[in-house]
Amino acid sequence: MSEQAEMQLGVDVGGTSIKGAVVDLGAGDLVGGIHTEPTPPEASPGDVAAAIGRIAAAAGWSGPVGVALPGVLDGSCLRHAPNLSAAWEVVGALACLRAPAGANAVLINDADAAGLAELTYGDTRLDRDGLTIVLTFGTGIGSALLYNGDLIANSELGGLVGSNGRFEEIASGRAISSEELTPVEWARRAQPFFDELEAMLNPNRWVVGGGLSENFDRFASRLMLSKPISVAHLGIHAGVVGAAVAVRRAGLGTTGPAAH
Ligand code: BGC
Repeated sequence: MSEQAEMQLGVDVGGTSIKGAVVDLGAGDLVGGIHTEPTPPEASPGDVAAAIGRIAAAAGWSGPVGVALPGVLDGSCLRHAPNLSAAWEVVGALACLRAPAGANAVLINDADAAGLAELTYGDTRLDRDGLTIVLTFGTGIGSALLYNGDLIANSELGGLVGSNGRFEEIASGRAISSEELTPVEWARRAQPFFDELEAMLNPNRWVVGGGLSENFDRFASRLMLSKPISVAHLGIHAGVVGAAVAVRRAGLGTTGPAAH
């Protein structure tokens, strides 16, 4: 880590745990390891803000924080976050997250954060022509659309409904573990999802992240796709790293080890 290294704290709020780390924005590397808090049972905005504050304290961080959240950031509230409390949908709910660690926070959808990380550190930074679809398979299915080097936010493709229900309910990482799906069974459920997206959006490339990135070869190799598919460059930490990148993107970055 050089004297001039640009550091940033990124936090990823998930359905079961909240993870945060200081990220060296030069390479997208985690510095000092991951700090984890269990997602509070009710997962209210205040509880989550307090957990982020504890993570910042554990990391010794006092500057701006990037926070990746599941759901659509809609002004002052968060919609479509099935794994968090309904309190997030109330207008003004995000107010307590604007400065959870005593400094400004930048909020971003979790899959968009993974997409931003991919755009910044992955192969797709070289892929400036056409559409890349990033899909994160975890508690739900998150999505990010990357087009010619830009992020198109809040796409929510996992909400697409197939003949057996919402794809994020039947083919997510959680469905794989709770129903003990084999790769073949998962692919049977996921293939129509990819087919539908291919027909509607004509991507040039697919990137898969979230929990599935750890078993990418076993599962993704079962899909029949006309365009290349690869695993997210930053694996399960893509949300944390992307949240940190979002702070710099918002022009709030802090430079130098003295910042934390
Ligand atoms: C939410 C998305 C989120 C995804 C992954 C879905 O339930 O609606 O916003 O990106 O889960 O966490």
